Amino acid sequence: MTEKQKTITLAFTGASGAPYGLRLLECLLAADYQVYLLISSAARVVLATEQRLKLPANPQAAQSTLVNYLGCSAEKLVVCGKDDWFSPVASGSAAPKQMVVCPCSAGSVAAIAHGMSDNLIERAADVVLKERGQLILVVRETPFSTLHLENMHKLSQLGVTIMPAAPGFYHQPQRIEDLVDFMVARILDHLGVEQGLVPRWGYDNRSRDEHV
Ligand SMILES: Cc1cc2nc3c(=O)[nH]c(=O)nc-3n(C[C@H](O)[C@H](O)[C@H](O)COP(=O)(O)O)c2cc1C
Repeated sequence: MTEKQKTITLAFTGASGAPYGLRLLECLLAADYQVYLLISSAARVVLATEQRLKLPANPQAAQSTLVNYLGCSAEKLVVCGKDDWFSPVASGSAAPKQMVVCPCSAGSVAAIAHGMSDNLIERAADVVLKERGQLILVVRETPFSTLHLENMHKLSQLGVTIMPAAPGFYHQPQRIEDLVDFMVARILDHLGVEQGLVPRWGYDNRSRDEHV
């Protein structure tokens, strides 16, 4: 993969699961990806509620806050505003071919399924769809209504990967971070980003011997 190809759009929306999004961001930056980060207003409320992380509404200020919070370099992170129609992610001529919405609310699933393009997150997802790129939605809601399931079914048929925030327990998690890493590892696998966050199924013979 060339440097030019290592760009990705990541969106945080207002579903529960802010730790997944932050950890994914951290891993993508560590893997040297240029990350265009889009944050909905509801996502800012969730980040404050779940992580005690108060992100300013202004994109540049949010970027500085995130860089301090994660202790990462500012060089590869670009936070875009919800009406930043001049951002590369808003056009098929410049947008990254990969996009992850993590966490993804049922509301954003609906908007993306109907091509609303009413804010930059919806527009960026619409661009990835029309350009036949890779779109991953880490959806979090429970239970799912028929409407949610219909929207996800529609998107799945268009090639979107619906990856519910539903971590497994077979790696015997000891900490919340282990559950977060389980989900983030699966997302990185789908993106083709090398990762060693959790042991792979079938490679840990010890647990097989213990459990059969
Ligand atoms: C703390 C908190 C947790 C929420 N959790 C969820 C959730 O898990 N799933 C969901 O679909 N909506 C959830 N919501 C509601 C969404 O944030 C709301 O529907 C919002 O309009 C989504 O907008 P967005 O998709 O533009 O971010 C939550 C809201 C808050 C404040």
